[in-house]
Amino acid sequence: PPLKRYVDPLPTPLTAVPDPSAYPGADYYEITMRQGSWNFHQDLGPATVWGYWANNPHDPDKPTGMGYLGPTISVTTDRPTVVKYRNELPTTHLFQFVIDAIRNGCSELTPTPPPPYKPVLPFPPNVNVWNVVHQHGGFTAPQSDGMPMQSFSPDGIHAEHYTTLEPGRVERNEAIYGYTNHDRSCMLWYHDHGMGMTSLNVYAGLAGLWRVSDPADERLGLPRGEFEVPLILQDRTFNPDGTLAYTMTLREGEDTPVVNGKAYPFLAVERRRYRLRVLNASNERFWRLRFDVYPRDALPQPTLPFWLIGTDGGFRAPLQMLNFLISPAERYDLIVDFSQVPMGTKVRLTNYHAPVHYPGMPGEGPEIREIMEFQVTEPLSGGTDRTRPPKELRLPTVAPVKPKSHTRRRQWVTYQHKLFRTMTFNAMPFEAPSQDFIEEGSSEIWEYINPNHDAHPMHVHLVNFQVLDRQPIDAVEYQADYEKWIDGGRKSEDLPVLENYFTGPPIPPDPDEARSNKDTFKSYPETVTRIIIQEFTPPTRTIASIPGSGTKLPATYIHHCHILEHEDDDLMRPWTILGHGD
Ligand code: C2O
Ligand code: CU
Repeated sequence: PPLKRYVDPLPTPLTAVPDPSAYPGADYYEITMRQGSWNFHQDLGPATVWGYWANNPHDPDKPTGMGYLGPTISVTTDRPTVVKYRNELPTTHLFQFVIDAIRNGCSELTPTPPPPYKPVLPFPPNVNVWNVVHQHGGFTAPQSDGMPMQSFSPDGIHAEHYTTLEPGRVERNEAIYGYTNHDRSCMLWYHDHGMGMTSLNVYAGLAGLWRVSDPADERLGLPRGEFEVPLILQDRTFNPDGTLAYTMTLREGEDTPVVNGKAYPFLAVERRRYRLRVLNASNERFWRLRFDVYPRDALPQPTLPFWLIGTDGGFRAPLQMLNFLISPAERYDLIVDFSQVPMGTKVRLTNYHAPVHYPGMPGEGPEIREIMEFQVTEPLSGGTDRTRPPKELRLPTVAPVKPKSHTRRRQWVTYQHKLFRTMTFNAMPFEAPSQDFIEEGSSEIWEYINPNHDAHPMHVHLVNFQVLDRQPIDAVEYQADYEKWIDGGRKSEDLPVLENYFTGPPIPPDPDEARSNKDTFKSYPETVTRIIIQEFTPPTRTIASIPGSGTKLPATYIHHCHILEHEDDDLMRPWTILGHGD
């Protein structure tokens, strides 16, 4: 039988408690990955899940966590954080059958081992679980960035001796990372980035929020406290007993929407403004979201308009919207005003299929129509709403970055192997050493050439960027000529020249992307999407006593598709920042 909707209240992840004494000038956390159990719905039995737990310095017996996902790390701009991550997961994977299949030569997406792009599991066959924690969207030194090559197993085997190991302070199944939090006020998140198994590890539950706030935010007049609600959107497939099924590789599952760990939850709200901080933490699903009003005639229009006030990298000029498309790893910061909604009305967050001007949005189909429900039932607490109307908010705006004539361009082709379907950038496996060298402090335009029929959410570590424009290309011709270039031995004179494949003029960024700081963007099918990165500068300052805080150049980071199955299947590449002397 289908699950009952809107019977479980929306959980809110608890905020971890820092220890301010361990590292002077910084907040210190210990976060442990552990297997636990969690009920996704009141009618589903307990599921075995993985999650993060933060130690509680005031009460060691009461760590902060819920079993699934992780506690929210709440930091202040520029106050450093030190985190010791500990891996106490079992040594057999929750989805061991997928690991076994990969070992037997199947990639996650394809049944055939495609040399030389065979997915590499960088651990010996007796090691089946490895993890690493990446703070997504953060300005982090590479040794603290939690990239796949920094994975380590519960029994203390490391993929690369890259982790900051402090003798006496860190055990073999631990890593200690330093974060400068030199970020704008924004909502980052942290999640597993295990080499070749990020999709499985995040699906099992390894994700949490990292909220960066600036003391100046308090004067903005935004909804706060219980009126600022994080929504971690995911889709999951359940076995009849309520346990998690990982079906991405096998069949289209009967996907169920899960918000903050609950299927079809509800939130009772007051007639006032709320700030909703939406993260798409799905493995591969894009959502086109809107707020539908029930009964349909409760308001003059059947869907509630709302305001976008921020994206991945922080605030932007408020923009009134009726719906938005959010791809995996993107964040949308919204103000939704329930003050004019009659008492007793229900406002459903729905996912509807709009024929957008780009085809092939994965997971955007109609199979999940409804996600959660806001029930306008609560009396106004604490007097009238004194938050500022969104139109009058004075938020930091984002000035457009203008390319200069000498701004270097770099091209990344999303290449799907014609036989094996494995995906790479520029037909290069992730394991091949970095070939992209960027001068420290420089600005670049990256052109993501997508000749596929699917959209990909692309993410660049370390930096924020802006979407410049998009331009449609003749995908069939481009793909054919790109294959000729590969088959002909990759001679530079045979490399397809992008300009020859345009089928139309450049299209400006969507209104929600324009003048926004982004770390993840949608690379639409049969299109080149251009982004401009204003400045490639890693955190160079080493903060005394903060492990892993400074960067030695050259420094290598990564970028990848944030469809986790694609990233595991090799749609990921390193790139390197060079110092001026290198
Ligand atoms: Cu959110 Cu490299 O990832
Ligand atoms: Cu992808």
